Amino acid sequence: MTFDDVVLGRRSIRGYKQQAVPKAVIKEIIELAMRAPSSLNTQPWNFYVLAGEPLDRIRAGNTERNLAGVPHSREFRTHGEYGGAHRERQIGIAKQLFAAMGIAREDKEARLDWVLRGFRQFDAPVSVVVTYDRSIHGSDIGPFDCGAVANALVNAAWSRGLGCVINSQGIMQSPVVREHAAIPDDQVIMICIAMGYPDDDFPANAVVSERKSVDEAAVFVGFED
Ligand SMILES: Cc1cc2nc3c(=O)[nH]c(=O)nc-3n(C[C@H](O)[C@H](O)[C@H](O)COP(=O)(O)O)c2cc1C
Repeated sequence: MTFDDVVLGRRSIRGYKQQAVPKAVIKEIIELAMRAPSSLNTQPWNFYVLAGEPLDRIRAGNTERNLAGVPHSREFRTHGEYGGAHRERQIGIAKQLFAAMGIAREDKEARLDWVLRGFRQFDAPVSVVVTYDRSIHGSDIGPFDCGAVANALVNAAWSRGLGCVINSQGIMQSPVVREHAAIPDDQVIMICIAMGYPDDDFPANAVVSERKSVDEAAVFVGFED
């Protein structure tokens, strides 16, 4: 695959084959991902790669706590509801996914089922929890570096025939993740990435999300034309 094939072909995968992913392939993907740049080459990221029973315990704990209304406990700063163009884009992708899945707006049961799938990380066989060293907690540069490595990781996985979805839903109940993944206190939980072989028959996997145009996003300064 060329770089363009990977970047233009990759999309978030939310339906997986129940097929184990070899540890050697995941190691290779992480090695590629860690070619990502980081501030002063500090590489503050770490990865807790989960499968099997510990991952199932996290799915169960996540689901139970979210259904019980336990407030979210992400370990980094968050903001309130999105507004304006951000909210419109958030609604846009939700509409695309629900249309693909045949979930009607008023079908509360189907919508709840979708949310619960998210809390189970879409039943992916693998979840990679990305953490960073607590010694740099409080600065925005650690999360920035984690974003770079996470993007590289999903693209590296795609180039090896694996699908991923970066997701906050899996780490919203961070004490559950910390306990079952045995993440030590010197690590801050940033995000998780569900990973596995895509189920090509799962309708949401065909959704191609939209992007704003370069003209909307980029301001060119000092150019001739
Ligand atoms: C930081 C972050 C958190 C995300 N959290 C979720 C999530 O909790 N659930 C989900 O289904 N997708 C989640 N996504 C996936 C985004 O919805 C997706 O990347 C976006 O809609 C663009 O679609 P694409 O990845 O198919 O290009 C997340 C992505 C990022 C980068």
